[in-house]
Amino acid sequence: MKPKDALHIIVIGSGYVGLTTGLALSYLGHRVTCVDKNPEIISKLRQWQSPIYETGLEELLKEQSGRIEFADSINSRITEADIAIVAVGTPSKENGDTDLSYVEEAARSIGASMAPDQFLLVVNKSTVPIGTARRVKTVLTEELTKRGVCCHFSVASNPEFLREGAALHDTFFPDRIVVGADEIESVNLLRQMYAPILEQTFIPPKKVVRAERYGFPPLVITSPTSAELIKYTANAYLAMKISFINEFAGIAERVGADIREVARGIGLDNRIGPHFLNAGVGWGGSCFPKDVRSIIYTGAQYGYDMPLVKAALDVNTRQRKTVIEKLQATLKVIRGRTIGVLGLAFKANTDDIRESPAIDVIAGLLEMGARVKVYDPVAMDNYRRFYSRPEVIFVGSVVQAAAEADALVLLTDWDEFRHVDWKETASSMKGNVFIDGRNLLPKDEMTRFGFTYLGIGC
Ligand code: UDX
Repeated sequence: MKPKDALHIIVIGSGYVGLTTGLALSYLGHRVTCVDKNPEIISKLRQWQSPIYETGLEELLKEQSGRIEFADSINSRITEADIAIVAVGTPSKENGDTDLSYVEEAARSIGASMAPDQFLLVVNKSTVPIGTARRVKTVLTEELTKRGVCCHFSVASNPEFLREGAALHDTFFPDRIVVGADEIESVNLLRQMYAPILEQTFIPPKKVVRAERYGFPPLVITSPTSAELIKYTANAYLAMKISFINEFAGIAERVGADIREVARGIGLDNRIGPHFLNAGVGWGGSCFPKDVRSIIYTGAQYGYDMPLVKAALDVNTRQRKTVIEKLQATLKVIRGRTIGVLGLAFKANTDDIRESPAIDVIAGLLEMGARVKVYDPVAMDNYRRFYSRPEVIFVGSVVQAAAEADALVLLTDWDEFRHVDWKETASSMKGNVFIDGRNLLPKDEMTRFGFTYLGIGC
């Protein structure tokens, strides 16, 4: 990228989305400052250590050392910026509504520091309810009016679609880039920011591989409201697709079919597609549960019922119970049993445990009087910090989780679990039940090793 095209970008919020976006934009040649009000995060980043576990992120951070800045407030930096990207948290409230206080706080701090002669494009990247672009505009205007200054700014919506664990890959090689803006100037500025990605003119960083058949991502230009709704529609659809296959996993079990064969059989239909058809213990994470609840809430605010999305949520709640039901069906009495839980993260390649099925399964097992040993390759610290119950026993390997256990339950699709010596592991257990909540392991082989193996829908 030519230096004349480089923009000065402030990213507010240095979590999964903000940090990944900031680092990628810095790698592509822009001048980037990542801001976070959590001093622990900033102190780590200043030592070029990643505060989160994410493929390739720490390597890229080290590579960018000296080229990207980290700060605990936006202050004077905003006066030099062309673009401020808001990537702060938007947690769920109890009633499913979205807590926008961090977004509003970011907007206020921008308004409090902008220079009078400046033009700034404020970009909402956080997943935010419909109408938030307009709300941010109002908050900024209020703040500027308070100061008695007149600045030029515009607000655009640019939702992210990155998956944790593949966040850098999805940032450099997105399926599409959605820009929701009312003015052509905002679209052009974001086109300039994303030019290296739109034109694929960069050499990918280490550990981020451009697929051979990857072409150029389309730029989808919409109104801010449509962009906001695109994000919710995408996540609700994907969540519904998983719930759909999970619902059919239940019927497959009852009629003696194998849901993996069924998923392949339907996924080859181009109109359906093969992705997001892995049956399992259900979806979790920082996005699907929150966004699904949020769009149901929005529907209700407009007096509009959303039965399909509600059903996706209900099926997901039911799905989390299947593991315990299968344990009951095989072990009969749970009280006094030792159960080894393999995997705490909501999916593989992340240390994120937010809304992870493991939280519910472990709580259910403890309530039923089981002794629970848990192992996860990277998420144990997070679980300990946020959800741990004193009864949970943390162990350092699959072998330790299995020792003297009556049953093992696999809840995260970690690749490490594919490479375990399961024959040896089976012989160290007291019982032989194996519930594979992700359909990760080959049923025939596991049965040959002596396990009573139960998958989900197979
Ligand atoms: C998701 C969206 O994919 C991403 O576009 C958005 O920006 C954020 O939310 P993420 O939460 O990182 O990303 O995880 P994703 O890979 O989508 O998986 C979500 C959940 O669905 C996980 O719990 C995963 O285990 C589960 N899942 C996924 C299945 O159970 N079956 C599948 O076939 C796919």
